[in-house]
Amino acid sequence: MLPLLITFLIFLSSLNLSLSTELCNPNDKKVLLNIQTQDFGGLDLWDPKTDCCKDWSNWPAIVKCDVNGHVTELSISGILVNGEIPPSIGDLTFLQSLTIALHVELTGSIPISFTKLVNLKYLDLHINNLTGPIPDFLGRMKALTYIDFTNNAFSGPIPSSLAQLPNLQNLILQNNQLTGPIPGFLTRMSSLTEITIGGNNFKGTISPAFSNLPNLAVLDLAQSGLTGSIPDSFGSFKNPNLKLRLSANRLSGPIPRSLGRANMSGIILALNKFTGDASFLFGKDKTMLREIDIAFNHFEFNLSNVDLPQGIKVLDISRNKIYGSLPKRLGQLPLQTLDVSHNRLCGMIPTGRRLKRFSPDSFSHNKCLCGPPLPPCKQ
Ligand SMILES: *[C@@H]1O[C@H](CO)[C@@H](O)[C@H](O)[C@H]1NC(C)=O
Ligand SMILES: *[C@@H]1O[C@H](CO)[C@@H](O)[C@H](O)[C@H]1NC(C)=O
Ligand SMILES: *[C@@H]1O[C@H](CO)[C@@H](O)[C@H](O)[C@H]1NC(C)=O
Repeated sequence: MLPLLITFLIFLSSLNLSLSTELCNPNDKKVLLNIQTQDFGGLDLWDPKTDCCKDWSNWPAIVKCDVNGHVTELSISGILVNGEIPPSIGDLTFLQSLTIALHVELTGSIPISFTKLVNLKYLDLHINNLTGPIPDFLGRMKALTYIDFTNNAFSGPIPSSLAQLPNLQNLILQNNQLTGPIPGFLTRMSSLTEITIGGNNFKGTISPAFSNLPNLAVLDLAQSGLTGSIPDSFGSFKNPNLKLRLSANRLSGPIPRSLGRANMSGIILALNKFTGDASFLFGKDKTMLREIDIAFNHFEFNLSNVDLPQGIKVLDISRNKIYGSLPKRLGQLPLQTLDVSHNRLCGMIPTGRRLKRFSPDSFSHNKCLCGPPLPPCKQ
């Protein structure tokens, strides 16, 4: 009887204990509180008296834990912090997801202590003011699947050590000051689903080997100083939903006819020096195609008989030398954006409720387009 009672009492007190103690790992909590008071200079994000795993989950400073109380997710975004990324974040070794974003005054680079984050999959540092080269040691953070450094001031080349990340899916480095050629190793990283690296100062041509990437769904090389033309191989991407963005480069010449076979979800070629025919990009049976933007080029073809993709939402063919008339089906499509202005089109604008929403500017500066919203056709 007595042993049983004692066991029961022990059980009760342990229950009591587990109710009064918090889940949050004390070391992790200490790291976070130091970030709050020291690194980020007296912010008031988290109440030290509460449980980091249960009570610190509100934007803009979100903490989440695993069942053992280790911090697995940390997100601090959009508050005024200056200085550098706290190296002590490297002590949160159970972290799987880290977001430090939207701090325009956050400078410096990524601390080397991040190599201790062996479980980190998701690293989002977009819109800060980080400078210097993208560190080589990222290649040692093997768990990484997602890197977003959009809108920082990183410079130098894309480090070849990234090739050592076997699980990297999203590589998002747009709007930095990266230089050099676009490295060839990217075309051999078969885990990649997204390469968004536009808005840098790369040079050179586009590698045909990108089309070998079996899982690629987004290839964005916009505004990158690229020259040459679109490789023939780009007609045979494995993923039928690929979104291809090559706008605002110095690409030239005709686009390959092979692109006519591709069933992409978006093809954005605006602001280049492309010439010749692009009518084969269209086609009623391209059911995945949502966006075609070929504005500001030198394309020259007859639009009259083009079959427009039935799901198209964004169509911008403005500022080319496109002639013929607008296809009748234009009025039946789920268009949200339309611009055919500054071409050599002629004839009546198709009727259709949906087209009425667009302003005359969407149709202006053509040879002889007429009818609403432009002035009536002369009979
Ligand atoms: C970004 O950092 C550079 C120096 O590292 C500084 O000159 C610039 O003013 C900073 N920009 C902002 C928006 O704080
Ligand atoms: C495009 O892809 C869709 C979905 O995979 C398919 O149904 C359609 O037939 C394809 N069209 C062409 C032209 O390949
Ligand atoms: C464009 O094609 C249509 C249909 O084939 C044809 O009737 C028209 O003359 C062509 N327009 C020009 C300017 O060549």
